[in-house]
This record gives sequence, C-alpha cells and structure tokens, in this order.
Amino acid sequence: MMRQLSLFDITPATDRWQTGNFSADNFGEQTARLNLEQKLIDITVISSDFNRQTVSYQLSKNDCLHRWLKYKEGFSADLVKRLLNEFGTKQGDTILDPFMGSGTTALVCKMQGINSIGFDILPMSKISINAKQSAFDYDVTELKQLISEIENLSVPENCERKAEYITITEGAYPEKTEKEIAFFTDWNRNSHYSDAAKNLITLCILNSLEKVSYTSKDGQFLRWDYRSKKMLEATEYRSKNGKTPLVIRLDKGILPSLKQTLLGELKSVFSDILSIRQHTMYPLESNIQFVESSALFELPKFEDSIINGVITSPPYCNRYDYTRTYALELAYLGITDETIKQLRQDLLSCTVENKPKLEYLKEHYTSLGKQSDFDRILKIAQTNDALNEVNKSLLERSDNGDINNKGVLRMVNSYFTELTFIYAEIFRLCKSGAKVAFVNDNVRYGGEVIPVDFISTELAEQIGFVPVKVYSLKQQKGNSSQQMAKFGRVPLRKSITIWGKF
Ligand SMILES: C[S@@+](CC[C@H](N)C(=O)[O-])C[C@H]1O[C@@H](n2cnc3c(N)ncnc32)[C@H](O)[C@@H]1O
Repeated sequence: MMRQLSLFDITPATDRWQTGNFSADNFGEQTARLNLEQKLIDITVISSDFNRQTVSYQLSKNDCLHRWLKYKEGFSADLVKRLLNEFGTKQGDTILDPFMGSGTTALVCKMQGINSIGFDILPMSKISINAKQSAFDYDVTELKQLISEIENLSVPENCERKAEYITITEGAYPEKTEKEIAFFTDWNRNSHYSDAAKNLITLCILNSLEKVSYTSKDGQFLRWDYRSKKMLEATEYRSKNGKTPLVIRLDKGILPSLKQTLLGELKSVFSDILSIRQHTMYPLESNIQFVESSALFELPKFEDSIINGVITSPPYCNRYDYTRTYALELAYLGITDETIKQLRQDLLSCTVENKPKLEYLKEHYTSLGKQSDFDRILKIAQTNDALNEVNKSLLERSDNGDINNKGVLRMVNSYFTELTFIYAEIFRLCKSGAKVAFVNDNVRYGGEVIPVDFISTELAEQIGFVPVKVYSLKQQKGNSSQQMAKFGRVPLRKSITIWGKF
C-alpha cells in the first residue's frame, strides 16, 4: 500500500531521475534494482521546495543560531521547518533524530515547543545542542564581561602547557598557538563564569581550531599546509629516499591567533543571541533529550509508541569518516589514539575501516531479552533482493578489479544491515500516524549504482512502514573522477524519503 501526499510544489519524476541502467556496461545483474525502481518511481517526485542548499549546511551559514557550530554535514533549519509543517507536528509532540550532529532538528523543534530525542557519538553534538538551547537564558552582562576579559588576556611568556594531540593531528598548530590553546582552555576551566558561559566558550574554541591550524577539512581527510611539521618531514623523507617530491598545494597564508579567532566567534554568537531575543518569541516549554551514544545501541532501550515523527540524516554510504574530519576537535575534547579507534567503529558503517557490528548487536539484543527482534530484523536485511543484488554485483566487480578496496563491500552491506535495525526500532517507537523523513544520497562503486533511497524505502516497507514519497532534488550528484573516467557519468539522486506508520 502506498499513500499519496502532496504538500510541496512537486512534479513527477521523469526519465532523467530514473537510473535505468544500474550496472555500467551491463556488467552485472540488475533486475532487482530495475524492479524496485519501477515499483517506487510513481511516488518519486522532484520538488522545487528542496534544493542543495536546503539539505546541506549552506543555508545554516547565514542562520542565527544554527551557524554556531560549523558542521558542514548538517542540513538546514528550513528543511526541518518544512518537514514539521508537512507532518502536521504540534506543540508538545516528540520528534526523534537518531543522528543529531549539530542538533538542527532538535533546535528547530525546541523553538516551536516540540520535544525531541536523539543521539550522536561525537562529543561536539552535546556542546552544540547545550549552547544553542540556552540562547534565551544567557546572562548578557556575563557574556559582555567575559568578552572584555578575553580582550585583556595574553599568554604568559613562561607558559609551558601545549594543546593535546593525537597521532593524526600531531603538529597541527604553530608552536605559539599550541600554547594559546592550552592557556585559554585552562583559563576557561578555572574561570568563575557559569557552566552555560563556559560551554559557549568551548564551542567557540572548537570553531576556531581549524582556522588557527595548518589543516583544512577536505572531503574525507584533513589537508595539511606546506609549512606543517608533517609535510616538512614527509618532504624531507622523500627527498632523502630519492622519491618524487610531494605536491602540497595548501597554503593558508598568515594564520590568525586563537585569541583573535575566539573573540571573533564569541562576538558573532553574542550578536546572534541579541538578535534572536529581539526577533523571536521565547520558545514554549519543551525539552531535548540527547544521549551521547550510538543510535544502534540506544534505540532498542526505548519504549514502544513514544514519538510522533522522525527527521534525520544518517551518515551517507560514502566512506566519509567523521572521526578524521573532526580529529582536531576530538583531540581537543580529550579523545585519545585508543578512543578515536573505538569511536570510528561506533559510526554507522560508512567507512572502509568499519568492522561488522552484528556480533555486538546480537549480544545487546539478547541482553535486553530481544533476541527474536534481532533475528527478525536481520532476516529482513538478508533477504532484500535489491541489497543482495548489490552485494553480489560488488563482489563480481571486485573480482574483476573494478573496486580497489574490498572494505567497500563490507561497508555497503553493513550500512544497509545497520540501517535496517534503525528503521525497525524507529517503527517500534513511532505512534500510529507518525511520519519519518530520511535525507540521503545515492552512491556508486565500481560502476554499480546503489539506489540508497529506494533500497531504504523497501527495507522500511518490509518492516511495516508505508512508503509515502521520495522527494528527489533537482540538482543531482556527479560521480568521482575515477568512476567517470572508467564507467562514464550517471547522475545520482539526492533524496528525502518519507514513510508513515498508518
Ligand atoms: C549527516 S550527519 C547529521 C547532521 C544533522 N542532521 C545536522 O543538521 O547537524 C550524521 C551524524 O550521524 C552521526 N553518527 C554516525 N554514526 C552514529 C551512530 N552509530 N549513532 C549516532 N550517531 C551517529 C555522526 O557523528 C554525524 O554527526
């Protein structure tokens, strides 16, 4: 059964949004994916209400409050507002976001008097959510005072303490900045300011770290400036060993001091606070329940039928490693070489380094007395035709030398298997009438298109959800240069899938 809803400005998907050919050069079997596309194309619509800006951080950059944590993986407040509106969410309802990130869903809900529940494994989430939800409660005089105190602070000559590093961030700051970071951190920790003000300073230091460092966030890794110790040592090593010199393009120019950057961040947040208070009504009573832990682990612990909807965006199945991109911030917050490895494993499988979590999930479900749920959910993932076809095609592609890292095969299968557990738990938590929105991107490996939106929708349907809509963005995604060169170009949908529990 499929339900039609049309609250947005939409047009039916045309051929351009149909993949048509999932396996480059007709290499592998694609019947299951073609059948799935035929089944879901009728509810797939192109909406001009959503665009690349809406589903990314771009709109938030200019958005008071939501820009407080620079989190490029976030979606916009505008998207959340539209979806809450489409869902007919009312004050006092509860919305779940299992992958909270910077907390966009929770904060938009809070401003509308809607409760929220959510998780994230990264410690930045808690700092971001706490800072933003206090927007109406800060003591403005205290904030003015702390800004003026920082203006008059300087690092003593004899300061010996340095910023904390982990191996992958070693040497990320000039020596002077290493001392500044340690100095301002100690100063904040020992200051007499309120916990809310201290948390805000921590958020602003987090936002400053990349700017004052020799690094730049770039796709899956940190790029390093040619002056950093890492690059200087690598260049020297290569020249000593007769290897071709590294081409290092990153030159960040004169790096600002932490004090200057931190003050800039604090002043901008301060002016947002004044503006929010002037232009926005004090939000109605509601609460945000955030747990810093894996959604896979936490969701099974919650009671049935407690939420009215879900607005979320999981990590994409694209090898993007949050623990590498945010290594500076994680090291600052006390993550060590050991704990970062565990954090990487806790990520929903989205990198080639993720090991399968099934053993651990089975133990967890068993300890909760839910082994039959575990078996039922796993069976749904294991018997999905399109997913099985994708797994088989990727294996054949790998044997054919079309996939350079076997970890991709494990990642893709684990990604959908783990998401099936998330979908099943969400279904259980949803009240009747609840609607669910997942933002995701389709991907392609070794010439095989993986329709993440359709496979997810079918898995959700097998769990009990009713597929409602697949909103596809007008702007589709391109492919990596290697995929293009080897297999030609296939546009990939970016979608918002909507399901209901009716
Ligand atoms: C696409 S981002 C979500 C961004 C969010 N919508 C926002 O606006 O900021 C996905 C998030 O999922 C988190 N994540 C990854 N694996 C997780 C897990 N097992 N449990 C909970 N969160 C996880 C990541 O740390 C990341 O913050």
